[in-house]
Amino acid sequence: MRSHRSQRSRRPGGARDHSAGRLPWAVWRTTPSRSEQVTGAHRNRPASPGVWHRHGDTAGTSPDLGGSSMKIGIIGAGNIGGNLTRRLTALGHDVSVANSRGPHTLAELAAETGATPVTAAEAARGAEVVVVTVPLKAVPDLPSGLFAEAAPGAAVIDTGNYYPKERDGRIAAIEAGLPESRWTEQHLGHPVVKAFNGTYAQDILERPLPAGHPERMALPVAGDDEAAKETVRRLIDELGFDTVDAGGIDESWRQQPATPVYGLRAGAEAVAKALAEASRKRPAAFTA
Ligand SMILES: NC(=O)c1ccc[n+]([C@@H]2O[C@H](COP(=O)([O-])OP(=O)(O)OC[C@H]3O[C@@H](n4cnc5c(N)ncnc54)[C@H](OP(=O)(O)O)[C@@H]3O)[C@@H](O)[C@H]2O)c1
Repeated sequence: MRSHRSQRSRRPGGARDHSAGRLPWAVWRTTPSRSEQVTGAHRNRPASPGVWHRHGDTAGTSPDLGGSSMKIGIIGAGNIGGNLTRRLTALGHDVSVANSRGPHTLAELAAETGATPVTAAEAARGAEVVVVTVPLKAVPDLPSGLFAEAAPGAAVIDTGNYYPKERDGRIAAIEAGLPESRWTEQHLGHPVVKAFNGTYAQDILERPLPAGHPERMALPVAGDDEAAKETVRRLIDELGFDTVDAGGIDESWRQQPATPVYGLRAGAEAVAKALAEASRKRPAAFTA
């Protein structure tokens, strides 16, 4: 089995590595099984953000969501949206997927996966989980009222990253310090859970590991809606990855591009440490 631990490589969006700031962060294990708690010394972090690993299951099987299939809408069918469509359909979820050009352009992905191609406006209809995975600059173009017909309490996953120089152009509010996911949720009009933004798209297909595997990767997950965050963490567990609770959206800058955790392929403790070491200062390459 190839080692996934503490590898660092080119960033998920395509270019390079990053640096760290310095903040204390404590990590401890409480039990050898399901729960592992992480706490941060930063003032805005919740009292006991958690890290958990589930043991005794195999990546690719439905775990203790009751093994139930969820209705999931995916808006964006590119690198991330396409691979999430592949994995989530394989796990038995009822997936609808949308892009900018219309359902007729998604016939191949639909035939491959069994997902239902829809318009972006339809993707959230009845969905318990919605993944928004479009370029950041496209977020304001998404239909208004996107979540009006989503299931009550739907968890909305934001995978987005701000690449001002290469793709998105200057966004003044983010340059002024607004966390990228806060900007996105303001446009969406719905709370988001930030996840997968620092995960290489191919890792979603290639690096799932069974719960309890010593080389299982962990992904940071941030969000203000604790129930939605829990839903997302369980789904990521089902996909074959551990998670680290990275706090609320005000703290989610810790996992933005150019932070130590961004693109980090490592387990929960290393991910928690990287979150703690993040610097709020945005490197020149990520400003405009
Ligand atoms: N690539 C990675 O490894 C990676 C990793 C982590 C996070 N991310 C982040 O996740 C987001 C998506 O990245 P990606 O690489 O998957 O992007 P991508 O390959 O460029 O795909 C973007 C998708 O969004 C769709 N889209 C664009 N505007 C839309 C609109 N107005 N309505 C509906 N769909 C729209 C596109 O549709 P069309 O195909 O019809 O144009 C396309 O399917 C970005 O913010 C990126 O930074 C990427």
